Amino acid sequence: MANGPSVTPWDVSGTVNYDKLVKEFGVERIDSAILRQIERAAGELHPFLRRGVFFSHRDMNWVMNEYEKGNKFFLYTGRSPSDAVHIGHLVPWMFTKWIQDRFNVDLWFQFPDEEKFLFKDSLDFKKVGHFLQENMLDVIAIGFDPKRTKFLVDTLHANLMYKPACEVAKRITLSTIKASFGFDDSANIGQAFYTAMQSVPAFLPSYLSGRTIPCLIPHAIDQDPHFRIARDVLPKLGFPKPASIHSVFLPPLSGAAGKMSSSIPTGAIYTTDSAKAVQEKVMKHAFSGGQPTVKEHREKGGNPEVDVPYQWLRFFEEDDDKLKKIHDDYQSGKMLTGEIKQVLVDLLVRLLERHQAARAEAEDKVNDYIFKCQE
Ligand code: TYM
Repeated sequence: MANGPSVTPWDVSGTVNYDKLVKEFGVERIDSAILRQIERAAGELHPFLRRGVFFSHRDMNWVMNEYEKGNKFFLYTGRSPSDAVHIGHLVPWMFTKWIQDRFNVDLWFQFPDEEKFLFKDSLDFKKVGHFLQENMLDVIAIGFDPKRTKFLVDTLHANLMYKPACEVAKRITLSTIKASFGFDDSANIGQAFYTAMQSVPAFLPSYLSGRTIPCLIPHAIDQDPHFRIARDVLPKLGFPKPASIHSVFLPPLSGAAGKMSSSIPTGAIYTTDSAKAVQEKVMKHAFSGGQPTVKEHREKGGNPEVDVPYQWLRFFEEDDDKLKKIHDDYQSGKMLTGEIKQVLVDLLVRLLERHQAARAEAEDKVNDYIFKCQE
């Protein structure tokens, strides 16, 4: 795609400047007023909110106001199967689970199994089908409430989704698609239609029930262009604009540029990685903010702002006091590069052990999560 830094739903490259994105995308920063409102309703703040991992939103205040008036929202998020799940994907899902638990709300989880098929020459439906099954296990392993969670698989639920998708598609012009996603005339027509499918779950519960139910979509900021379009179109169909809340990207092992992505395997930790693989990847490939020699490190200290192990700990170490001590010890030179890497490895190994155990148990549960149309 573009030469400079770029953020689209299919590609994130260069050093992401989130302040610039907020302006370009027209989203709102999460400020202390909205944090207070969330805390009041949830009883606490998730570390992702306290630490700015979730940093921007659209209409989150409206969703909270409605909630305070007794009008519950539903959650909507998704995963496009194309490859193994990595720990970056877990970020929006862990947060979504927290919201589901704190607010006791339904979650519609979309698996658009045609999306990456349309965007990647190397993918056929057989491969996508394999990753769909694998990825569903990862989503179940997050621990979503089976009674309140409904999986929508685009090709499986095509009957249900196609009409509302056409209602949306009819109201989007090709020029909007080109401007929103940067497509040129070589894009295939399936790619142009796809955004209509991603907008459907944002109003499907209202469409099916005949009631107006607010929708809140947690996701990383790359998906925002889809929902900008959905917010334009849905009111024309008599549905409210979906609200959304956005995370930054978990950076790849190599450091600041781009996002963790399955297409760069050395930059990613997969949920199925062994403890040995995690140890090797972090020790060998994690970009370090430390000094070249121990002597220099003890004198000058490390730089947590660029250090990947520290940056990842900001996402996954929930204990604020522990995190602060790691930060201060590393910055002062008391903690060495090898030591902070080991702290991260130990934490990731624990996290993945728990995830892999839940993933193994998920095998028998898939059917419980798939939405049954007659419900
Ligand atoms: P997908 O499958 O590429 O990614 C799934 C979710 O993970 C987020 N994500 C990340 N978050 C933090 N750090 C990273 N390095 C990172 N990489 C990916 C994505 O933003 C996404 O939230 N088209 C979508 C699938 C989808 C969807 C949705 C996503 C359908 N409906 C509704 C969010 C909300 C996709 O390809 O996501």
